[in-house]
Amino acid sequence: MRTYLVTGGSGFIGSNYIHYMFDRYKDEIRIINVDVLTYAGNPENLKDIENNENYTFIKADICDRDAIEEIFAKNEIDRVVHFAAESHVDRSIRNPEVFVQTNVLGTLVMLNCAKKAWELEDGSFREGKRFLHVSTDEVYGSLEEEGTYFYETTPYDPHSPYSASKASSDLVVKSYIDTYHFPAFITNCSNNYGAYQFPEKLIPLIINNTLQGKKLPVYGDGKNVRDWLYVMDHAKAIDMVMEKGRIGEKYNVGGHNERQNIEIVKTIIHTIAEMLPDSDPRKAHVNEELITYVADRKGHDRRYAIAPDKIRSEIGWEPETKFEDGIKMTIKWYFEHQEWMQHVTSGAYQKYYEEMYR
Ligand code: NAD
Ligand code: TYD
Repeated sequence: MRTYLVTGGSGFIGSNYIHYMFDRYKDEIRIINVDVLTYAGNPENLKDIENNENYTFIKADICDRDAIEEIFAKNEIDRVVHFAAESHVDRSIRNPEVFVQTNVLGTLVMLNCAKKAWELEDGSFREGKRFLHVSTDEVYGSLEEEGTYFYETTPYDPHSPYSASKASSDLVVKSYIDTYHFPAFITNCSNNYGAYQFPEKLIPLIINNTLQGKKLPVYGDGKNVRDWLYVMDHAKAIDMVMEKGRIGEKYNVGGHNERQNIEIVKTIIHTIAEMLPDSDPRKAHVNEELITYVADRKGHDRRYAIAPDKIRSEIGWEPETKFEDGIKMTIKWYFEHQEWMQHVTSGAYQKYYEEMYR
């Protein structure tokens, strides 16, 4: 039985990944989720899994070397899937320090602890051990024109403190691969959407505001482009890279699904309008009049677009969920989980929202 150490498993992608893995492998795997539970970490995301006897939650900070070393010492870890990070660009613009702390130094701690646990006396690594560092396409910077794409060979050119910290963490992982032949992979994925995403990010924020009849803040001219991937397709890509990837390689993950932000916002409005029965009083306010153009994000990257050729040809990964279906499933999920939304938007979120959008 393989044992996975998942960091940041209580966040958006981590919790979806844990769901995906238990659905796929049932009781053939064990997962230890290490998460310090920042504002973005939510135990509710794994409520249906917490009693699974093959699942363990450990509340710990990835920057705490003693705590992470102890987890490696007490458990025979075969796979590390490293999600834990500060992940929101707007927060990184306001408070960059914690991004460097968690994303760069936290990754270094994870690498060092895995290396210590897995390294043999001759400097090679124990058979079958793997570390997958989950990263983003934002490390490549911004594409201005249509028809150009991010490849694995595209030079890093991050602009936000978030993307700079992720780029730095990628380079630290790469240095361990190059220097020690440490058995790691790096995946650089495009924007994810799906269930359990914290409503600071575009899609859940717009869904929540639309349902509440609140203004829909669109930065700048609304024409920035993101390449959206359904989160379960990302989970599948991570699993496939881990099992079929070439050790030491990096893989871009994306599904050629470029959309302007304004298109996303309008799709959400129209889908919710269709979903609400005529008798629902909210129906009256669900229309494009909610859209409000606001000041642009500082240093706002114009366009992201992944070329997923390598993961397709080497590993055979393809996204399964078409955007038209994925966005409907996602909106339906938030519609049916308004209690989840109420819990995450109470308290500290209100203060964040007021400061960010006033
Ligand atoms: P998220 O913000 O939803 O979750 C991050 C999780 O990490 C939370 O559970 C949080 O509590 C935990 N965490 C933060 N600091 C920690 C620390 N010091 N110690 C332990 N746990 C800590 O993020 P997400 O959207 O799920 O992203 C997960 C990873 O995927 C990140 O590394 C991110 O850079 C990467 N990524 C995200 C996207 C996206 O569209 N969301 C796309 C590509 C890559
Ligand atoms: P976001 O979900 O924060 O992801 P990222 O910045 O990592 O790509 O934002 C996606 C896009 O939506 C980005 O171009 C910024 C824009 N955006 C808005 O227009 N309004 C908002 O309130 C938010 C949160 C984002």
